[in-house]
Amino acid sequence: MAGITLADYFAHATLWRTLGQAEQPAALLNFMARFPRIAGIGAAVLICTGFGMMFLTHGVFGEQLWFRIKFGLVILLILNALVEGRRQSGKLHKLLAASGTFFTAEMEMIKSRLNRFHLVQLLLFLLIIF
Ligand code: HEM
Repeated sequence: MAGITLADYFAHATLWRTLGQAEQPAALLNFMARFPRIAGIGAAVLICTGFGMMFLTHGVFGEQLWFRIKFGLVILLILNALVEGRRQSGKLHKLLAASGTFFTAEMEMIKSRLNRFHLVQLLLFLLIIF
């Protein structure tokens, strides 16, 4: 899940660099379209194994501070992905379909929001693992 977040960041960096050039980013967009599914599988595995460990240890970690902080961070991670990540990439795909591959002012805004989204996600992963 963290790896896909990083790959998604670099894929967007390539997309911004190649927008407006002669080559079409269709292949890159098709490749990127697979990311949400892979990240979703990663999230499902993390949640299942996390709850599995809670079950095996009879919830002993649930009372510890580190776990409560971590759980809050996991919720933030999921919310940021579902609200900000999904919304901004939905807008980007609509714009690409409507205005072709020209870099518009609205895309500039989406670009900075997506950059902030990736940064927040990677920071949350780092904090969770820490
Ligand atoms: C983005 C999501 C998550 C990440 C990146 C993550 C990461 C980690 C890492 C790095 C460890 C340490 C493994 C080790 O000590 O070998 C761990 C342990 C653990 N995680 Fe997660 N986790 C996530 C989600 C969850 C969730 C949702 C739960 C529970 C509902 C959970 C419950 C646990 C438990 C109980 C342990 C065991 C702690 C121990 O044995 O000392 N995790 N997790």
